Amino acid sequence: MSDIYQHAKELDEQFHMHTYARKPVMFVTGEGMRLYDDDGREYLDFVSGIGVINLGHSHPAPVKAACEQMAKLTHVTNLYYVEHRSELAADLVKLFGGGAKAFFCNSGTEATEGAIKLARKWATEHKAAHARTIVTAWHSFHGRTLAALAATGQPSKQDAFKPLPAGFAHVSLNDMEALDAAVDENVCAVMLEPVQGEGGVHPCTPEYLAAVRALCDERGVLLIMDEVQCGLYRTGYPFAHQGLGVKPDIMTLAKALANGLPIGAILASDAVAASFAPGDHGSTFAGGPVVCAAARATLKAMAELDLGARALELGAYFAESLGRIAQQTGAISDIRCAGLMLAIDLVEPRAAQVAVELLGAGVLVNNIGTHTIRFLPPLVCTTLEIDTLCEHLHTILVKEPS
Ligand SMILES: Cc1ncc(COP(=O)(O)O)c(C=O)c1O
Repeated sequence: MSDIYQHAKELDEQFHMHTYARKPVMFVTGEGMRLYDDDGREYLDFVSGIGVINLGHSHPAPVKAACEQMAKLTHVTNLYYVEHRSELAADLVKLFGGGAKAFFCNSGTEATEGAIKLARKWATEHKAAHARTIVTAWHSFHGRTLAALAATGQPSKQDAFKPLPAGFAHVSLNDMEALDAAVDENVCAVMLEPVQGEGGVHPCTPEYLAAVRALCDERGVLLIMDEVQCGLYRTGYPFAHQGLGVKPDIMTLAKALANGLPIGAILASDAVAASFAPGDHGSTFAGGPVVCAAARATLKAMAELDLGARALELGAYFAESLGRIAQQTGAISDIRCAGLMLAIDLVEPRAAQVAVELLGAGVLVNNIGTHTIRFLPPLVCTTLEIDTLCEHLHTILVKEPS
């Protein structure tokens, strides 16, 4: 380990709050699928900053756009027009299929918060003042601020921070009976990830989503889709709901939108977006010209590289390779895949150890809980890189768990 790693680690331990279980590695540069540590060692990145670097590290298009804009104008308040913000809104609305408006924020969590506020404001005007409740799924993840945490269907993440804001109910995913029972006159919206990410890559079935849409329409309730992780070509389409054939009233985005710079977005149909009036919502940094320039360049490059088709093709190849490892080793009990969003469940509770061993072999993956490993490579990855990961994974899984 180099001196700069040791120095950073010591300072971090002394001066940074211990909210992250950091791994013993420090990255200093990146290009495409590859990251390089302080010793110049190369790693294959199958995490992408947790689904952020969809174009690969240091892609020249957003880098150039952000640098040029930063030198020209970095920030003015949202009370004035700037270059790139309105164009980015138009680009996103076009991808969404038209008839909608965008609001920009700085993260996925903020997008969740804004979506909750918008749904409640809409319900105040179009439904009933008591219709406040948002129904979400168990094992969902919507963020870590208090309302986003209340929406998140994971009690283990919530307990230490109670009391959380009221007005959230949770149901099992893909269980229409449970949703039918939960959506009563107090509910203003149902919020779902089309593919649960932090929960371990669990997709909604198309039949379930179609039935959810029909139920929401019948009861006058909004459908919110959290596409923070599964959106932006990760599952093969600009937005995952497009592959599942169901359109939401409100959609949240963040992560990959500017390929690593902090931005989130809420899109809502014109009718729903009309409920937000001046003063209802805002943020100092949101929708600044630098991040919007980067996001426009990111969207353009993703479309030019046809990353959706690539995600579908490579996701299928990756899942097949994982299937062969499962057969050969008997160490994998389940494989889930939605484009280049994949997870395996291990038979033994060895996910953390497998991730450590892969890191030792120069491959980054993300372990969830005791049994699950998630793969979220940049969408520019190749079959060769998938083969390299799979060879290492096979070697590790044929060994007895230590
Ligand atoms: C589906 C989903 N929603 C919301 C969030 C929160 O996003 P952020 O970490 O940018 O606040 C995440 C983060 O992992 C996510 O996966």
